Amino acid sequence: MSVDLTGRAAVVTGSGQGLGRAYALALAAAGAGVVVNDVDAAAAQATVDAVVADGGRAVAVVAPVGPSETADLLVAAAVEAYGRLDVLVTNAGVLRDRVLWKTSDEDFDLVVATHLRGTFTTARAAAVHMRERGEGGRIVLVGSPAGQHGNFGQTSYAAAKAGIVAMARTWSLELARAGITVNAVIPTAITAMTATIPVYAEVAAAHGRGEPLPRVVRQEHALGGPEDVAPLVVWLASEESAHVTGQAIGIGGDKLSLYTVPQEVGVTYRQGGWSAEAIGEEWARTFEALRQPSGIALPPLEAPADA
Ligand SMILES: NC(=O)c1ccc[n+]([C@@H]2O[C@H](COP(=O)([O-])OP(=O)(O)OC[C@H]3O[C@@H](n4cnc5c(N)ncnc54)[C@H](O)[C@@H]3O)[C@@H](O)[C@H]2O)c1
Repeated sequence: MSVDLTGRAAVVTGSGQGLGRAYALALAAAGAGVVVNDVDAAAAQATVDAVVADGGRAVAVVAPVGPSETADLLVAAAVEAYGRLDVLVTNAGVLRDRVLWKTSDEDFDLVVATHLRGTFTTARAAAVHMRERGEGGRIVLVGSPAGQHGNFGQTSYAAAKAGIVAMARTWSLELARAGITVNAVIPTAITAMTATIPVYAEVAAAHGRGEPLPRVVRQEHALGGPEDVAPLVVWLASEESAHVTGQAIGIGGDKLSLYTVPQEVGVTYRQGGWSAEAIGEEWARTFEALRQPSGIALPPLEAPADA
């Protein structure tokens, strides 16, 4: 099976560096013309130059995702450069990590505007274009383990990323008739963003020096380079994944995973409804043993000697 995107056109938001840059390079290497978007003009141009140096096609649009004007610009740039838009990857993102009681309105709004609103406005513009053209399409959203599980210090980010997966599941229903698939990638990779997480600072530095990563890092922590994540985006952008929609798929390092839709793990009925006292009794009887953990559970980074 070869994955060929020749003749396709893709927009990748936030592709000046990190994961987005790897997605742009990989989509272009598979044959797609790419619109590289970032707020950092030099970084966006560097990605365009790298794509072109590899023999691919790319143009840059320097604008912040969030406002609908940017979304319209991105679709227009794809249409102008390649005559069409087939693939949208909503990757742009920022972190403003603080615990709840120290989270400012400004930081919350910036994170939500970039991730959640940026995903909404760009996907809406892409969906309008793809539905009008009538040839289907691929929308690849970007979630995070923080959105799937909750994460200490990531109020705004976890909220935005959980919302993005909810939008993927919703849009997969709404866009199915138009042949447009919508999936969420849940990536993990060593990038400038991960390097800011204290526990990963040393791993990121070692990776930067070109040292191989231990098995526990590449497998249980699902951490490798951005190039380890890009193949999933290429596959989701291709004809090969036409039957896959509404999924949240994890990838990073050596690990590929599929997330569940949240399921009820305990169900009980009481004729006539529940009183507070009856809920307390039922909790002790049934649900206490089924309580769900919050947060991302990972093994310690110090691997045993035989790992
Ligand atoms: N690195 C990881 O392990 C990881 C894990 C889970 C999710 N993610 C998600 O993957 C995506 C990429 O992360 P990364 O690690 O490559 O981060 P990064 O910080 O290296 O890159 C993010 C890019 O987005 C750009 N950007 C920021 N705000 C923008 C805006 N409003 N409009 C356009 N571009 C903007 C930045 O300039 C930067 O080039 C993000 O959505 C992030 O939340 C990353």
